[in-house]
Amino acid sequence: MNVVSLAVWTLEQHCYLVYAALGACFLALSVYHRGPVVLRTGRERRQESGLGGEPAPRRDSDSDSDPDLTPALPLAPHVRYSPPRRSDEELIQRSGEFHELMARRRTVRAFSAEEIPREVLENVVRTAGTAPSGAHTEPWTFVVVRDASTKAAIRDIVEEEEELNYSQRMSRQWVADLKPFATRHIKPYLTEAPALLLVFRQTHSFREDGKKKMHYYSEISVAIAAGFILAAIQYCGLVALTSTPLNCNSRIRALLRRPPSERLELLLPVGRPHPEAMVPDLHRKPLQDIMVMI
Ligand SMILES: Cc1cc2nc3c(=O)[nH]c(=O)nc-3n(C[C@H](O)[C@H](O)[C@H](O)COP(=O)(O)O)c2cc1C
Repeated sequence: MNVVSLAVWTLEQHCYLVYAALGACFLALSVYHRGPVVLRTGRERRQESGLGGEPAPRRDSDSDSDPDLTPALPLAPHVRYSPPRRSDEELIQRSGEFHELMARRRTVRAFSAEEIPREVLENVVRTAGTAPSGAHTEPWTFVVVRDASTKAAIRDIVEEEEELNYSQRMSRQWVADLKPFATRHIKPYLTEAPALLLVFRQTHSFREDGKKKMHYYSEISVAIAAGFILAAIQYCGLVALTSTPLNCNSRIRALLRRPPSERLELLLPVGRPHPEAMVPDLHRKPLQDIMVMI
């Protein structure tokens, strides 16, 4: 009997020893990870990473008695909230006025170089910061760039990447779908607009005790904050361009010294429109096409 045959014969005869050893390893790993090892589905992993999905079923370890499960936010007293009560007439009037204001908003791609007050930008960002967020995680950072050389550096990155996007990365259908907007890889507005507002999404953060803080629903939270920004810009009388610079995240993040836990979601040039700015004559879907009342 050679060595290999002997080893196989020994394992066959004493397989309970192998199972016992594997069981001990499993137990040791479970204890090391402070709880039973649970195989997570893709949905659960997405949920836990804050990327969405239905809530994963609660596990036994999620018990209130676990000393590690202190909430990320300190428990705050609940206080009365009583905004003024509006009559039906007021509600109709105010909602109509707000709609009229927002219906005049347009995406503008030609800006006046005229400066805008710093305080306006601060108020716009303050407004963004009032947006709701999953478990009040406030998963956003807004970087306002007014410095000419930083704007030029951002423009260089965007134009380089956009040239590749248009020529190689985007499908031909995508490029065709953009024709009505007359967009191309050259972006003068990135240096002409007096300010660039960059919206970063924080995928997670860290608590004071060093534990990782999950940012649930960070994508939709940041999208809502972006909506607040656009509404604030429209209300104060400025214009913006909602842009999503494809494949620019890591280079712009590095330029602006943002951490890897942040992702560039939107780049909004903000300012007054160029006196000769043109916009495509777009029409919006009527109410009956976008609303279902039950
Ligand atoms: C998520 C999102 C991404 C967009 N990305 C770009 C972009 O990269 N470049 C651009 O010129 N416009 C971009 N736009 C602007 C749209 O083209 C514009 O909102 C649309 O044509 C409707 O025009 P309006 O904003 O004037 O109503 C984007 C808009 C949204 C909401």
